[in-house]
This record gives sequence, structure tokens and C-alpha cells, in this order.
Amino acid sequence: MSDPEALKRDAAAKALSFVEDGMRLGLGTGSTAKHFVDLLAERVAGGLRVIGVPTSEVTRAQAERLNVPLTTLDETPELDLTIDGADEIDPALNLIKGGGGALLREKIVASASARMIVIADASKQVATLGRYPLPIEVNLFGLEATRRAVAKVLDAAGCPGPLNLRKKADGHVFVTDGGHMILDAACERIADPVALAARLHAVPGVVEHGLFIGLASFAIIASPGGAEVVGR
Ligand code: A5P
Repeated sequence: MSDPEALKRDAAAKALSFVEDGMRLGLGTGSTAKHFVDLLAERVAGGLRVIGVPTSEVTRAQAERLNVPLTTLDETPELDLTIDGADEIDPALNLIKGGGGALLREKIVASASARMIVIADASKQVATLGRYPLPIEVNLFGLEATRRAVAKVLDAAGCPGPLNLRKKADGHVFVTDGGHMILDAACERIADPVALAARLHAVPGVVEHGLFIGLASFAIIASPGGAEVVGR
């Protein structure tokens, strides 16, 4: 059996071959994206000139530590390429993201990029999204009212629940980089991700959700046989 970290690194290494000198990059969040930033930093140390926008404070800290030059979307509002992981990838390259809680910045950065490459090991590929709980980022104000409105939307979409407020291992409520909470929705099967995405956005108090529709240009999926480009 292959080491999952080795597979993630394989996917990250292949993504590096799409990075060109001078590119403005979106830097993803999560254990797979972390490998990419590590490998990118080695290339930067070797002379590659890029500038990156991190999708979380964790990624920012890693990139700063490794001397990867950073910018912001205010200074650099248009990016060439974002490389990020995913929790689930369907055959149409729709994604569930946000397992690490960075979905809001991840979606803003991916949307500001001409292309997004998703990097993952093959365990992230699914026929239908929904086995992984869908993260929904919500404002603290009116949390319970928002939770009920979201629950109604999920119920109508056939998601059986539960809808859980995300907590950290120490039992404290998880707070995102933007100061919001996350509700994790057990759906099992999301029959119509496009419709659910629109309905969740229509709920006041929902800041963002983890359905990434039509954002991925292609995926790089690593399995013991190697890392392959999918959906290009
Ligand atoms: C972070 O908020 C997420 O969207 C991650 O990109 C996603 O959870 C994948 O993370 P891993 O690469 O650690 O599985």
C-alpha cells in the first residue's frame, strides 16, 4: 500500500510542471497543498520567479517561512494559476472543499485565477459529491436562525443531516480566518450540486459554502501507478 503523503507529494510535484516563470499563483490550503508550497519553495530558491496569494493564514506562515514571495488580491487582483487540494472531486470536476476551514479564501482566490489545478490522491474521486460533509461558513450573528434556514434547504435537497457546528479537537468552536463559524452538513449524496449551491447562497447569514462548481480547470490525481492529469 502506498504512503498517502507520498501520493499527495506526487500530485503536487506534477502540478509544479504547470508553473511558469513570472506567474501569479494562488496557494491552496491543506496537506496536499502544503506539499506543493514546499516543492515550489525549492524551485524559488533555485531561481524561479513567482508571486503567491495564500488562501489561509497557515499557508501564509508556511510560504513566509520558506521565502516564497507573497502578495494580496488587493495588490494583484488577477492570478494566472491556483493550485489547491479538495475533499471530493466528481467526474465534472465539481468539488467539495473546506475540510480545513479555508473555503472562503480558497473560493475567492480560485475565482480570481485564470486556471485552477486541483491536486489530490485518488481517494478523493467520487461518482457523486456528498459522502464528505459539506462545509458551510456562516456569520456568528443569528447563528441558530441561520442554522435552521440552512437545515431547511438541506432537507429539501435530500440531505439527511445532521448539520453540525464544527468544533476543534479541544471542544472549542472552530473559527475561520475570517472570524466565522462552519456548519458541516452530512448529505451522503448531493444529487444537484449546482442547485444546492445557489440555494445555500440565498440564505442570509451564509458567507460561503464548500461546493466549488466550474472552478477547476483540471485535476492531477495521484495513485500508486503515478500522477495523472484528469479532465483537461
Ligand atoms: C481546506 O479548507 C480544504 O479545502 C482543503 O483543500 C481540502 O480539505 C483538502 O485537504 P487535504 O489536502 O489535506 O486533504
